[in-house]
Amino acid sequence: MFKIIERTVLSANEFQIWLAAPRIAMKAQPGQFIILRINEYGERIPLTICEADATAGTLRIIFQVIGKSTAELAQVEVGSTLLDVVGPLGKPTVIKHYGTVLLVGGGVGIAALFPIIKGLKQAGNHVITIIGAKTAGLLILQEECAHYSDELILVTDDGSVGHHGLVTEPMKKVLQRGGIAVAWAIGPSVMMKYCTQVAMQFDVPIYVSLNPIMVDGTGMCGGCRVMINNQIKFACVDGPEFLGAEVDWNSFIQRMHQYHPEEVAAYQAYQV
Ligand code: FES
Repeated sequence: MFKIIERTVLSANEFQIWLAAPRIAMKAQPGQFIILRINEYGERIPLTICEADATAGTLRIIFQVIGKSTAELAQVEVGSTLLDVVGPLGKPTVIKHYGTVLLVGGGVGIAALFPIIKGLKQAGNHVITIIGAKTAGLLILQEECAHYSDELILVTDDGSVGHHGLVTEPMKKVLQRGGIAVAWAIGPSVMMKYCTQVAMQFDVPIYVSLNPIMVDGTGMCGGCRVMINNQIKFACVDGPEFLGAEVDWNSFIQRMHQYHPEEVAAYQAYQV
């Protein structure tokens, strides 16, 4: 169980693995995630399911190395097994026919957005996708996003490919055209916050996927609590998808940095 079937280096710090997890692969839907542990000393890592192959019984996971645990995961060899994988967790995205939809992805968040793009296209929507990254080499899943999008706009911070700047700039232009029924934004917290502000200017509902620290993933520890519409919600069971307009972004972004010093220290110690 939980054998690593395939491992691909996507960029300097982004990796893709295909993982054997047949029972999860049978049930996984867009928007859901897993929590895995590499070994008995490992922390529990929540990762969005990029793709599930029910026939092969495998999950496609794309992750970025941001600290000790993801650095360890990047080193796990093909043929090795992970200690445990729990899932599929979280509420799935509501996939149905909305009309014209706008999807905005940033960085490794594009991997979480991809199954939603695919699901919405297969449900008959007109799909407009904007994906952005710091530079061309970090812009993942371009071909696959293009395959399931009626229009794909590329954005890079450094202008090495596509629009030079932030995803919110082409997002505004698309929204100015009118006709967008609903939007999604998945990426860094600050990006999702500003995408929400832009969508709100055009009265377009926008969903975001929150990725706070998680422990059990089943609503018991409270580690993933977020303020939604002035109420405490648990991202693992009530989300991870929420309406962006209802998220208390300041408290969310603050909590995302809560353990930053410890995370930096653990990563530095691992690298020594
Ligand atoms: Fe524990 Fe959500 S991860 S309540």
